[in-house]
Amino acid sequence: MKANTENRGEMTELRRNLSLFDATALAIGAIVGAGIFVISGVAAGLAGPAVILAIIIAGIVSSFTAYSFVRLSSKIAEEGGPYVYAKIVISPFIGFITGWLWLFANIVAGATVSLGLASYVSSLLPVIPIVPIAISSILILVILNIVGIKQSSIFNAVLVILKLSALALFIVIGFSHLNFSLYEPFSPNGIKGVLSSAALIFFAYTGFGRPATAAEEIKDPKHTVPRSIVLALVLSSIVYILVGIVSTGLIPYQKVANSGSPITDAIEYGIKIYWLKIFVSFAAIVATVSVLLTTIIGVSRVSFAMARDNLLPKVFSKMHKKFSTPYLAILITGIVMAILPLFGNLKQTANVTNFGSLLVYAIVNFTAMIMIIKDPQKFRRYLAIIPVLGLVSCTALLYFLAPISWMVGISWIVVGCIYYATIRRHQKMS
Ligand code: ALA
Repeated sequence: MKANTENRGEMTELRRNLSLFDATALAIGAIVGAGIFVISGVAAGLAGPAVILAIIIAGIVSSFTAYSFVRLSSKIAEEGGPYVYAKIVISPFIGFITGWLWLFANIVAGATVSLGLASYVSSLLPVIPIVPIAISSILILVILNIVGIKQSSIFNAVLVILKLSALALFIVIGFSHLNFSLYEPFSPNGIKGVLSSAALIFFAYTGFGRPATAAEEIKDPKHTVPRSIVLALVLSSIVYILVGIVSTGLIPYQKVANSGSPITDAIEYGIKIYWLKIFVSFAAIVATVSVLLTTIIGVSRVSFAMARDNLLPKVFSKMHKKFSTPYLAILITGIVMAILPLFGNLKQTANVTNFGSLLVYAIVNFTAMIMIIKDPQKFRRYLAIIPVLGLVSCTALLYFLAPISWMVGISWIVVGCIYYATIRRHQKMS
């Protein structure tokens, strides 16, 4: 069956292929990756063992936002996610800025994840430098995406099962090796350390809204998209909290504060089982590959949706005749993503990603709040409290991000406003 994209012409149709399992795997594929395998080390450096609290806080903030996604995606089933929600519920301009920020966050996220992937590859094979691995991994996955989402989603499901199994093994074996003295002092840097850590580890949860960005490729999207988001978020929160408890009980947090491979460091230090280290390194590579894969899918689909609405150049909405994928959107955004590892390190790109993601999520919460308030027949008004909590908590976490993320993020918004004014002027004149 083909998705209905009335009045938009045959060239912009997408295939409806993905089941609840595929959609949940798409979300977990987007969630579990560089955040838990790489950034959790830096986050532990900020909070100490209280990184466990940071993981819980970031999970709660994500759940408020996931609720907003669930509400919005059960009402609006168009391709594009947050961009489409804000466009329909608030205004075309806010929709544009949301999509613009979403693309920014996810392109930088892709670069961050490719750097995480590369640090695990180079921890296994130190002779290979990080940046070329990061760039080539993006380019390979771009090609896979062009060939088609169905092929990509089967591949993604296999990767998801593998990475969850490795984390489960780490948790189970790790629990019998815990050194309880490592939990003291629990929160060496106090509440500020915990909140800065939560703002950073938030990266590990981003991606849960991914099925919403591919709604036109999902069967029965009004039911499947919300269910897949909830399933994916619950499962990954449980895994993250357990990984947090185990890893801080295996290695002193100071030792992973600057590590590119904190989970395998924890194995080496606290468990000392070599095959487990190799297996988890392999899983980290697999995890980051699957996040990268779904990030490229998401970025290309949102740029596709924006181009279809004349907010990005038309090339982004051109479909491949044979593969039915927006191949130019995939190619162009993939190339931009592949250039970024030349400019920033993983900590910087993670901070910049979180700035974009937290702002987008703040807008998603705001949009859900407006939708609930405007439609009292369908929604009970008091439910608006959840998006309000999401809006406040996302905004509060922004405060704890590194200054570089504010500088880069605000510049991107200014460029977006200028671009929007220019295209609107052209459209009025023609
Ligand atoms: N949440 C994704 C990750 O941790 C972006 O890699």
